[in-house]
Amino acid sequence: MTGNAKIIGTGSYLPERILTNKELEKIVDTSDEWVTTRTGIRTRRIAGAGEKTSQMAARAAQKALDMAGVSAREIDMIIVGTITADMIMPSCACLVQKEIGAENAFAFDISAACSGFVYALEIADRYLKNAPEMKILVIGAETLSARTDWQDRNTCVLFGDGAGACVVTGSNEERGVVASQLYSDGRLWQLLSLDTMPRRYCPVVDYETIPDRNSFCDGSAINMVGKDVFKYAVREMGDAVEGLLHREGIKVEEIDLMIPHQANIRILKSLAERVNLPFEKVYTTIQKYGNSSAASLPIALDEANREGCLKNGDLLLFSVFGGGFTWGVVLFRW
Ligand code: ACO
Repeated sequence: MTGNAKIIGTGSYLPERILTNKELEKIVDTSDEWVTTRTGIRTRRIAGAGEKTSQMAARAAQKALDMAGVSAREIDMIIVGTITADMIMPSCACLVQKEIGAENAFAFDISAACSGFVYALEIADRYLKNAPEMKILVIGAETLSARTDWQDRNTCVLFGDGAGACVVTGSNEERGVVASQLYSDGRLWQLLSLDTMPRRYCPVVDYETIPDRNSFCDGSAINMVGKDVFKYAVREMGDAVEGLLHREGIKVEEIDLMIPHQANIRILKSLAERVNLPFEKVYTTIQKYGNSSAASLPIALDEANREGCLKNGDLLLFSVFGGGFTWGVVLFRW
C-alpha cells in the first residue's frame, strides 16, 4: 500500500426542518429575492429540538460505514471538524464514538471553522502514510443555527445545519489524496468570529419558533464582515488552487469536478472564473442547504457520490475557506 487516504464510504445527515427564505422574511427585514440573488440560498436545514451535532455526525458516520461495509469496531480513529460541538469537553468525536460503538478508535475534534473537514482529511492522510491499514472516520458536523443571531439579517440568512462523513483508508492504487495544502492567517480573525460557548448550553431547546433560539445564545453568535470575507475567500482559495495545480503539474482542464465549501454561490462563481474552471464543473448544494461550515463539503461529496456523479479515476478538487482565517485545497483521485 502506498498509504494515500482513499474514501471507501460516504454518508450525510440533514435535519428534517426546512427553513425557507419566505419564512425568514417574517423574522428579519429581508426578502427571498435579496437572499437568492446575493447568496444563491433558497432553503436551509435547521436541527430539531434536542438534535445535537454529535447525533447528526453519528448518523452521517453510520451511513458512511454502511456504504464502506466496515463495522464501527473496525474504526481506528475518528476526527470531527466542528465549531459547534455539543460541549467543550468531551469532544464531539468521543460522543460519536460512543453513539456508533467504535470502541477501538481514538477520537478528537478539529477546530478550523468551514475548513474543518479538509483539515481532518489532511490529518487522516498523514496518518495513513505511516499506517495504511488504519480505517478512519473523517466527519464535518455543525449546528450553526444554535450560534446564529436570528435578529441579524447579515448572518442569519446564510447558515444551516447538518453532517457529512467519510470512511478513509490507505490506498494501494492510484486513488485517494494526490496532493494537498493547508493555510491559516490568524491576523484576520476579527473578520469572522464566534465567541466561546455561551454560559447556558445552547442546542437543547424547543426550536419550533426559530427566534426563540436567540435567548439561548447569550449574545455569543457568529460575527462577520461579509464583504471582506468574500474578497479574501475568492482570492485565497483561487491562489491555493492555482498554486497546488502548478506544483503538481496539473492543468485545470484535467479537473473533472470541484467540490468546494458551500459558502455562497457568488463566491463559488468568482472562484471558478478566477481559476478558469467552467461552472458546470462545480458541484453545489448551497441552494438547498445554505452554508453548514465544516459539514458542507462532506454533505456535497456524499450527495455527488450517491447521485452517481463520481466515476472511478475522476480528478476532484476540494477547496475550502473559513474563520481563522483557515483555507486549503486537496486534489483527490476518486
Ligand atoms: N436582506 C436584505 N438586506 C440585507 C441583508 C439581508 N439578509 N443582509 C444585508 N443586507 C443589506 C445591508 O444591510 C446593506 O444595506 P445598506 O446598504 O442599507 O447598509 C445592503 O444589504 C448591502 O450589504 P452588503 O454587505 O454590501 O451586501 P453584499 O453584497 O456584500 O452581500 C453578503 C452580503 C451576502 C453577506 C456578502 O458579503 C457575502 O456573501 N459575503 C461572504 C460571507 C460568507 O459567505 N460568509 C459565510 C461564512 S464564511 C465562509 O463560509 C467562507
